[in-house]
Amino acid sequence: MNNSDFTCPQCGSAAAEHGLRLLLLGSGGREHALAWKIAQSPLVQTLYIAPGNPGTSAVGVNVALSPSDFPAVATFVKEHSVDMVVCGPEQPLVDGLADYLAADPDTAGVAFIGPKKAGAALEGSKDFAKAFMLRHCIPTAAYRTFDGTMAAEAKQYLRTLTPPLVLKADGLCAGKGVLILPTHAEAGQALDEMLGGKFGTASARVVIEEYLHGIELSVFALVDGNGGYVILPEAKDYKRIGEGDTGPNTGGMGSVSPVPFADADFMRRVEEEVVKPTVRGLVEDGIPYKGFVFFGLMNCGGAPKVIEYNCRMGDPETETVMLRLKSDLVPLLQATADGTLAGMQAEADPRAAACVMLVSGGYPGSYPKGFPIIGTAEAESVVFHAGTAEKDGTLVTAGGRVLAVSSYGATLKDALATSFSGATQIDFQGKYFRRDIGSDVL
Ligand code: AMP
Ligand code: GLY
Repeated sequence: MNNSDFTCPQCGSAAAEHGLRLLLLGSGGREHALAWKIAQSPLVQTLYIAPGNPGTSAVGVNVALSPSDFPAVATFVKEHSVDMVVCGPEQPLVDGLADYLAADPDTAGVAFIGPKKAGAALEGSKDFAKAFMLRHCIPTAAYRTFDGTMAAEAKQYLRTLTPPLVLKADGLCAGKGVLILPTHAEAGQALDEMLGGKFGTASARVVIEEYLHGIELSVFALVDGNGGYVILPEAKDYKRIGEGDTGPNTGGMGSVSPVPFADADFMRRVEEEVVKPTVRGLVEDGIPYKGFVFFGLMNCGGAPKVIEYNCRMGDPETETVMLRLKSDLVPLLQATADGTLAGMQAEADPRAAACVMLVSGGYPGSYPKGFPIIGTAEAESVVFHAGTAEKDGTLVTAGGRVLAVSSYGATLKDALATSFSGATQIDFQGKYFRRDIGSDVL
């Protein structure tokens, strides 16, 4: 689809007469990267970001609106004649924002990028996702699910597995619900704590699964609910705070794209063994999924296995994937909503992209904020805001992950060099970043 094919689903006029009015929900580095890409499209007349951040205000209009306030989102969509809503984070999707807007006759016709509650369960319930994979023969770790009445059985199952032992809270836990334990004794104790309410109702059920050995990567696709899909450039993220993948997990300390070990053969296997059966499975199960699917994969000696699904883009993967997506994103989103993705392709930029995350000292534990940030304008990189705020006209730190320093390069090495240079140049009190992003795959 190109510009001239576009017709507004609401007023029926062509793009030239009526550019799209888009509402992007979210406020992190992922949303700044999505906004940066969407704003480049000639199809877009107005891009609203709710609530956005100081970075998104440079490419669109920030709106003081919480994505979790469904009635407020619906009112905004109606009052501003929004044509398309793109949901960045998972929580509103898992809570049923798409269902809410579809149930209101005034917003039902608005294109919505993100699955309804039934599809978002791929991320919102680990047990649902595992059962889906099993049902559709999608390669994943062997597993069983247990509730509070099954602790003895769960421990018996644990004894059949070789450490490390993987325990996952069934529900959403802001990335903290997966525990990997070195011994059966520790796993048994963690199991009791989880079933006892360590993560509230999210761990009322616990998935215990086989540990997968290999190297991880993230693959993304847009899925149109009609059997159509388009695979976006892949990426690898770095989750631990410390160099050499040590220390606690974070929201993500950096990313690279492309992923050198994800060669054409491996990506062919990903498409045939993971993406196609997932898309087919959604249709077969009657789950009308329109949105991003994030496949968290393990490359197990050349065979892809699914660690998890997410119903959104990754963060900080989006901060490299959007640089590498050469195609206009907006026609792809439109075709996702229309169910016409089949036959479309996402053209990748031949350059490499790297992202180095600048975080507040102390993160992922507690950290002070409100420190002035200098040097963003001078950096050669595309600097995406993750946790920043404006205070009396000064840009200050406002979160654990502060800025994503993303760069192009002829090679991954060049892209990383530019990001490290930007990461050094940009400064705020307590700044920390990992200097080894990408070094494992170079
Ligand atoms: P998840 O939230 O399911 O992505 O899990 C968080 C992290 O735990 C993943 O990114 C992996 O690094 C690790 N992990 C989860 N499941 C497994 C598994 N079965 N084997 C090895 N590592 C895993
Ligand atoms: N980077 C991993 C995630 O977004 O969940």
